[in-house]
Amino acid sequence: MNLLITGGAGFIGSNFIRHILNKYPGYKIINLDKLTYAGNLSNLRDIENNPRYGFVRGDICDRKLVNFLVSKRPDAILNFAAETHVDRSILAPQDFIKTDILGTHTLLEAAKKYRTDIFIQISTDEVYGSILNGSFVEESPLRPNSPYSASKAGADLMVRAYQKTFAVPTLITRSSNNFGPFQYPEKLIPLFITNLLEDKKVPVYGDGEQVRDWVYVLDNCSGIDYVLHNGQIGEIYNISGNTEKTNLDITKIILTHLGKNESYIEYVKDRPGHDRRYSLSFDKLYNLGWRPRYDFSEAMVKTIQWYKENPDWWQKIKSGEYLEYYREQYGK
Ligand code: NAD
Ligand code: DAU
Repeated sequence: MNLLITGGAGFIGSNFIRHILNKYPGYKIINLDKLTYAGNLSNLRDIENNPRYGFVRGDICDRKLVNFLVSKRPDAILNFAAETHVDRSILAPQDFIKTDILGTHTLLEAAKKYRTDIFIQISTDEVYGSILNGSFVEESPLRPNSPYSASKAGADLMVRAYQKTFAVPTLITRSSNNFGPFQYPEKLIPLFITNLLEDKKVPVYGDGEQVRDWVYVLDNCSGIDYVLHNGQIGEIYNISGNTEKTNLDITKIILTHLGKNESYIEYVKDRPGHDRRYSLSFDKLYNLGWRPRYDFSEAMVKTIQWYKENPDWWQKIKSGEYLEYYREQYGK
């Protein structure tokens, strides 16, 4: 298969590209990525010279470029590209509306024009909003609470509309909170690990009792791979690791692994509109045959170990050195 992957220089996209190239010796990938602050080519250093991989720097909102790449008739388009951080969406929602909604629309138009066979939208459990009891299923109503999740929900609805109205062969995956190597250190787990490695405190929002449903990134990658090969056109599939933890649970696990005590916790002002609990049922994908493989505790140990062993990767990001390098190489 030839795949067009967008946002492949980010956290999940780079793990997915590596997963596909390793698993399928005949597959080729083009990675279209704008290299925003979150895109990092060093996430793909080990495969950048692989003859089955090519990188194009560009924006999914760039109609001409998108049409050119889609006119080459990739067997599938997988759209990972997005603005993804909830706190940033509260500060600057426009970027989220532009990339997450208009960018997805630009890709859908191209998929319609060139009759792409498979279009997979990588979405999130946040489109369902917050749930205090029980778990979200694919039919749950969309009740997004942040500009990020509202933008992702807008994209999901546009994907649905293009499937219903124009018969664009779309599928959607909605995963819960991912963790693992190469996650940008603004998100809870990598921020807390790297702060503690720097002997800094960790900022817990509000009372820290919010619940997230964690999945190891390689399980999300195998779930998306499963949907690509076995999913039914027009369907939505939730992906999770079935591991609900409060933010304080996560914080204490990281503190213990890094030999720190609770004096390193700093309770700070809560996030506006903070979703209290996410919980995702993945029965639909389970019934199709997919299984998550990674045990949460072992995956957390592997993740903490990865950040310990790769200070160069996250220190460059945290110090701003990495952004300066990309500005020099690629302009703004
Ligand atoms: P990330 O922020 O690490 O990476 C996003 C990537 O998209 C970056 O490489 C960035 O340069 C690129 N990008 C941004 N705007 C672009 C544009 N206009 N054109 C081209 N490229 C652009 O994100 P992530 O955590 O890897 O998330 C990937 C996808 O998975 C997103 O769609 C996100 O909504 C979804 N998701 C993430 C999680 C999670 O826990 N991280 C969970 C569920 C769903
Ligand atoms: O659920 C999937 C979503 O998970 C993805 O769609 C998003 O792209 C991804 O960013 C993530 O969103 P969250 O808001 O759940 O992730 P984040 O890591 O920002 O925060 C996780 C929880 O930890 C949340 O309840 C807020 C809290 N938190 C976060 C940070 C960064 C803190 O208490 N302190 C912090 O410094």
